[in-house]
Amino acid sequence: MQTRHIAQRLAGVAPFHVMELLARARELEAQGRNIVHMEIGEPDFPTAKPICDAGIRVIETGNLFYTPALGLPALREAIARFYKDRYDVTVSPSRIIITSGASGALLLAIAVLIDGGDKVLMADPGYPCNRNFVRMMGGVADEIAVGADTAYQLTPELVESRWTAKTRAVMVASPSNPTGTLLPDAALQRIAAIAAERGGAMIVDEIYHGLVYEHAYTTALKFSDQVFVINSFSKYFNMTGWRLGWMVVPEAYVRDFEKLSQNIYLSAPTPSQHAALAAFEPETIAILEARRAEFKLRRDFLLPALRNIGFKIPVVPQGAFYIYADCSALCADSFAFARDLLEQAGVAITPGADFGANAAERHVRFAYTSAIPVLAEGVKRIAGFVGRR
Ligand SMILES: Cc1ncc(COP(=O)(O)O)c(C=O)c1O
Repeated sequence: MQTRHIAQRLAGVAPFHVMELLARARELEAQGRNIVHMEIGEPDFPTAKPICDAGIRVIETGNLFYTPALGLPALREAIARFYKDRYDVTVSPSRIIITSGASGALLLAIAVLIDGGDKVLMADPGYPCNRNFVRMMGGVADEIAVGADTAYQLTPELVESRWTAKTRAVMVASPSNPTGTLLPDAALQRIAAIAAERGGAMIVDEIYHGLVYEHAYTTALKFSDQVFVINSFSKYFNMTGWRLGWMVVPEAYVRDFEKLSQNIYLSAPTPSQHAALAAFEPETIAILEARRAEFKLRRDFLLPALRNIGFKIPVVPQGAFYIYADCSALCADSFAFARDLLEQAGVAITPGADFGANAAERHVRFAYTSAIPVLAEGVKRIAGFVGRR
């Protein structure tokens, strides 16, 4: 028998349940079942045509060598202009690092900032990979249970009271996955100040920026040039498969990030970087804004429909494309609920267990990454399923 040697650091890394659920949904589809997908965390819209065209143009040249590890200079400059246009914030292109998705940025940030035993504060529920990245680097994910009372976000008080001598960083996401809620500007500013006072780092995941439906919001870079801000072309820009993201880091850290990215992946995908240059063109932004309006319509359809069925949704999500719902009036175990809903009613949703341990059995996440008629079919099936139980 072959021996299997797995590094200890993998012990605490949980699988992404939703991916396994998705695999099962695909299996059912292959058997001829119709499945309504409300589990998928990526926009259903294809990449906008101007971006595809730019990608095709560069591929035809064959000029697809590595870019510098920090990214294509023209793309770093375009992103700097984007900060100026969108948020009226001046960011030097020298601080912008192009990565392979926000995932690549999160990995780099944790690897640069976290030593073995260091603690990183983060919200539970939260994006599951964060805690896994921290664990992979030998750090400790110090997860803070948050609920509807704080719109599922960390507060300055929570950060202050949980900060210890071992705490090295605090991570927030605004809007958040799975809850779609924003961290108010004042809290963002105060948490950045607390981290700075304690000599720690603040990592802000702004991947769902652009997908905010009526609230005013800004980037954490407005308040501090010492925060680490992560963003991506995946969500607002509808480019998940191109695997492209970016990070803005304090000037003093650029060289460290450069060293590590040179070692880990040499450069982000070259065709994707050229294609992304078209992402900021007015004609692309017009397409993306129309899609944002569609996401808002979907949220406004799905939220009351789910409440009618008996899901409790105490906080209206202000952004992203998720609704985080309390299903305790309908079931005792959200994991079994999601499994049975898929098998018996053909609707795929994500169980709370993917996002942490805090009241996970009482929560599920719905993604409105399908058109309204599909969501309506999903709602009908869920109502029927719940009624039969
Ligand atoms: C909060 C959050 N951060 C980061 C990511 C990673 O996205 P990507 O690597 O596609 O940019 C996701 C993906 O779902 C996410 O929800």
